[in-house]
Parts: sequence; C-alpha cells; structure tokens
Amino acid sequence: MLNKILLIGGLIALLSSPAMAAGDPVAGETKTAICVACHGPKGISSIPQNPNLAGQVPGYIAAQLQAFKSGERENAVMQAQSVLLSDQDMADLDAYYASLPAKISSDLTEEDKALAEEGKKIYRGGFAERGIAACMSCHGPSGHGIPKNFPRVSAQQKVYLEQQLLLYKSGERQGYNGIMADIAFGLSEEQIQQLSAYMAGLN
Ligand code: HEC
Ligand code: HEC
Repeated sequence: MLNKILLIGGLIALLSSPAMAAGDPVAGETKTAICVACHGPKGISSIPQNPNLAGQVPGYIAAQLQAFKSGERENAVMQAQSVLLSDQDMADLDAYYASLPAKISSDLTEEDKALAEEGKKIYRGGFAERGIAACMSCHGPSGHGIPKNFPRVSAQQKVYLEQQLLLYKSGERQGYNGIMADIAFGLSEEQIQQLSAYMAGLN
C-alpha cells in the first residue's frame, strides 16, 4: 500500500516537473540575443507586428512558446525560434521578460483616440448583444493581466493586437481553453480596431 502511494507520488512529481521548471531571470537575459532583433531591447518592440514582451504576466510567455513549438499556435517565424528552446530556456526567458518594466503607452493619434472611446465601452462593459463579457474581467481594468493565463494587453502594439483578435475571430488561434476564440467570434472588425486602439493606449 505504502509502496503504491510512493509510486503515485513519484509519478505525479515526474509528470508535473516540466510545468514547474523554475525560471531564472539572469540566465534568461543571456538567452535573448536573437529575440532582441524582433522584440526590441528590454522587450519593447519598435515593429508594429511584433509584440512587446516586457512586463508580461509570469507564466504566459513560457506557455505561448510551448504552443508555438507544438504548432498549436501557428506562426512560422516563432515556430522556428521555439523549436530551439528547451523547457528550461522557456522558463528562464519567461522569468526575465516578466521582470522587466512594461511599456508605458505613448500618445494616441486623434484618429485612434476616437476609436479608443468606443473600444473603452466594450473593454469595460462587454457587448451584451453577443454575450461578450467585459474584457477587463480577465485582463484587468488597466490591462495588466492576471497570471498566468490572462495576458497583459496594456500599451501593446496596436497592429499586433488587431492581428491577434482577427486570428482568434477566424479560429486560427484558439488559445487557452478556446476562450478568446469564442469571444472574438462575436466581435466585428470595426470593434476589433476600436478595442485595439483602446488597449494600446492603456497604462
Ligand atoms: C524574426 C523575428 C522574431 C524573433 C527572432 C523572435 N520573435 Fe517572438 N514573435 C515574432 C512575431 C512576428 C510574433 C507574433 C506572432 C503572431 O503573430 O502570432 C512573435 C510572438 C512572440 C510571442 C507571443 C507574445 C504574445 O503576447 O502572445 C512570444 C512569447 C515571443 N514571440 C517570444 C520570443 C522569444 C523569447 C524570442 C527569442 C528566443 C523570440 N520571440 C524571437 C517575431 C520574432
Ligand atoms: C474570460 C476571460 C477573458 C475575457 C473576458 C477576455 N479575454 Fe482576452 N484573453 C483571455 C485568455 C485566456 C487569453 C490567452 C489566450 C491564449 O492562450 O491564446 C487572452 C488573450 C487575449 C489577447 C492576446 C494577447 C497577446 O499578447 O497575444 C488579446 C488581444 C485579448 N485577449 C483581448 C481581449 C479583448 C479585447 C476582450 C474583450 C472583448 C477580451 N480579451 C476578453 C481571456 C479573456
């Protein structure tokens, strides 16, 4: 009986060890030489299609790198990057980027400000007509996210946000439990632009 319990305990420890790999931010920084080219120094990108990684909620970056590696999240560029990474590399990169200060939003253009006004309503109040919950219930009132599954969206690249919402809407990106695919399915392209402008301007 005791042997059986010990065996089960051992198996659980074995099965859960990769998910629990503790990340080391100092080791993580040494692994970013290539990431910097596309995600910017200190995880703040200057390319509209490439997401900022700085200040992301702990655990999210490692989970996304796993999803790129397995092909569950389809992107040729990031798949090529992630296949080179071990579980430990992912945990270290995650710890490093989570430790960096997030981007503070830059000023929106007049056009984006008008879009953001509309986006704010959905972000804070949801869209009852399509049964969509307020975005802030999972991403936080200021868009700072909730570890580890609900990512930070504040001051994220507007173009990147739009692209991801369109990928969820088409079902190409399902993500954690398909939650965002369900939500985005009910959003129009116009609402996606409004929401992206709003999130890009959040601090
Ligand atoms: C050649 C450019 C390039 C390089 C190099 C690169 N990335 Fe990316 N990365 C991208 C692009 C483009 C995306 C957006 C993919 C998409 O649209 O789904 C992305 C997305 C990501 C995401 C998803 C972020 C989110 O908010 O969901 C993570 C995490 C990430 N990259 C981490 C890394 C790490 C860590 C490295 C270095 C080991 C790296 N990337 C190297 C271009 C790059
Ligand atoms: C019930 C919780 C929940 C609600 C409500 C919610 N989200 Fe999300 N969101 C998530 C989860 C979980 C993810 C990560 C999905 C994944 O693994 O791809 C996510 C991811 C995202 C991403 C991708 C971020 C990145 O870095 O790639 C964007 C953009 C986003 N959500 C915007 C929104 C908007 C806009 C709304 C409101 C219309 C919203 N979310 C409402 C749970 C939620």
